[in-house]
Amino acid sequence: MAEVTLLIHDLTAAVTPVGTGPLRGREFGALRVHSPASVAIAGDRIFAIGSPAEILREIPSGRDCESVDGRGKVALPGLVDCHTHPAFLGDRAAEFGLRSSGATYEEIHASGGGIRSTVAATRAGSERDLRASVERHLGWMLEHGTTTAEAKSGYGLDRETELKSLRAIHAAGHSSPMDVYPTFLGAHTVPPEFDSAAEYVEFVIHKVLPEAAPLARFADVFLERGSFEVPEARRYLEACREYGLALRLHADQFSERGAIPLALELGARSVDHLEATQHKAAILLAKSDVAAVLLPACGLFLDLPLPPARLLADKRAILALATDFNPGSSFCESLPLVMNLACTRLGLSPAEALCACTANAAHVLGADDVGRLAPGNKADVVLLDAPDWRHLAYHLGGDRFAARIKSGRVL
Ligand code: NIG
Ligand code: FE
Repeated sequence: MAEVTLLIHDLTAAVTPVGTGPLRGREFGALRVHSPASVAIAGDRIFAIGSPAEILREIPSGRDCESVDGRGKVALPGLVDCHTHPAFLGDRAAEFGLRSSGATYEEIHASGGGIRSTVAATRAGSERDLRASVERHLGWMLEHGTTTAEAKSGYGLDRETELKSLRAIHAAGHSSPMDVYPTFLGAHTVPPEFDSAAEYVEFVIHKVLPEAAPLARFADVFLERGSFEVPEARRYLEACREYGLALRLHADQFSERGAIPLALELGARSVDHLEATQHKAAILLAKSDVAAVLLPACGLFLDLPLPPARLLADKRAILALATDFNPGSSFCESLPLVMNLACTRLGLSPAEALCACTANAAHVLGADDVGRLAPGNKADVVLLDAPDWRHLAYHLGGDRFAARIKSGRVL
């Protein structure tokens, strides 16, 4: 028998999505609630989960190992943030001020600000600065219960700074307790030194991708007016796929321009945003195996229309939620806040919201051993200091964690 190294005992409850793989249709929001519960951990894996009496009977050695008192607490899987942009320098506080007095995000972008201003600040810094910035941002996420995160490049948009960003993401991933999944967002927008999107995409494919691909798991593109249209996005994504990267798309954020049909054609892993998605494309997406990643903190931050969340869920889409943490459109690292918005604005239940930022977000990342409390899975557990697990979504901006356990280690 494996040696139990950590016992979380006498929890009010331990709550987890059921099953394996993505949960969709009737299974979306299906939870198993063990109450009361103990969780036994061996090394970096969950060994057993059950009633305190059961666990003590099965694992007598559990009496001697390190223990965490779970009384009055609820255990949940460490949260999975499957869409973040933490590799940047500078901030957009001035832009935030402009937006509050009426300028729109798209107007600021069209006049050369927005993403391009963060690109300028990021290019000006050193790799060390960038690494420190990613580490800091990962630390913020961890405070809010995230134990696995995707991290995109995309504020370099030249060879040197894109590679620097991906290396900084790797280094920060190593020094942080978090598991980090890097994404090459070489096609975030067209940098000022290029006249056309097509020309820039050729540059990325030939001069950046060959060295970026080994540093990334995913490729992503911002398919939107003012950045890339379908032909350039297809060219970029097909090239990235040849290098073995799984594909993601920033899709239908401000306008619907063919991102969903393209994602289906290319067998992408996910389409993210979807605030402008209309009925027909939503149905197409729901019937496919491409996941829909909703980013309600971005929607709130930019005051966008709501995505068709309920339609997608009811038609069996694979639905995930993420923060979209970035300096311009969603300066928010809290998945519990995102869960609250999913419940209050998108019509998801707390159970659906939990599935969407655990099991289903893990599916988007291809990280099948996180997002659930189950024997054999990574021992990523957060303890909520609340009488009911739903406080995670219910307490607006007030996620109260008593402990965070990553890979079996109490942080
Ligand atoms: O997901 N839409 C494109 N990219 C980011 C925003 C980047 C930025 O504004 O800096 C997003 O919203
Ligand atoms: Fe994004």
